[in-house]
Amino acid sequence: MEVQGVDEWESQGIDCSVLTLPPLDSTTPRFLDFSDFEPMSWHRRKQIYLLGFMGSGKSTVGELLSRELRWPFIDLDTVIEAGQGMSIREIFERSGEPFFRQLERAALTEVLKTEPAVIALGGGTFAYEANVELIRESGGTTIWLDCSVQTLRQRCATMQNRPLFRDPESIEHLLDLRLPYYRLAEFKVSTEGRDAGEVTEQILRLRAF
Ligand code: S3P
Repeated sequence: MEVQGVDEWESQGIDCSVLTLPPLDSTTPRFLDFSDFEPMSWHRRKQIYLLGFMGSGKSTVGELLSRELRWPFIDLDTVIEAGQGMSIREIFERSGEPFFRQLERAALTEVLKTEPAVIALGGGTFAYEANVELIRESGGTTIWLDCSVQTLRQRCATMQNRPLFRDPESIEHLLDLRLPYYRLAEFKVSTEGRDAGEVTEQILRLRAF
């Protein structure tokens, strides 16, 4: 698979981290006018995929971003739950993770057809090479919502519907396994110490779609 992501871009001297962007000031429009983006967007599909670990803020940011862009919002986990008529936890309990991954792939294949759309992936979706390939072929923009393992641990501890969250220690191991995949995203936005509105603003400033 021919892959380029944050690491590859950065090795070419391209700064993919919006952490270095200057702070917003009063002359910066709160949300940019997307007519400005025509020259960039002609070759891209109007799709934004938000990826990252459980608790990184994909669903909350995705919903807000979709409102700002006036694009539909699709939460992959919600699509799977609606299709099965049960929660993610129940799917894991009744049929196990391999079956869940099959459902996830099928849901992803359907969701890829929607444009424009802001799509929040599940924490594991982008950690499977076949899914990465499907998403890349779709031509949308991939954005990794990143934050520290300490913050992820805190956020996951309060979540009920996350069967893969067993204990705070297991988070670190799972994250280590997934980081090489998350790094394949085109953009990385830190959610550390930022609320969903601030993260959304950063994404809108990427000028990538
Ligand atoms: C998973 C993350 C969950 C959900 C399922 C598996 C994972 O999505 O898809 O519990 O493998 O990390 P969120 O990242 O939205 O919690």
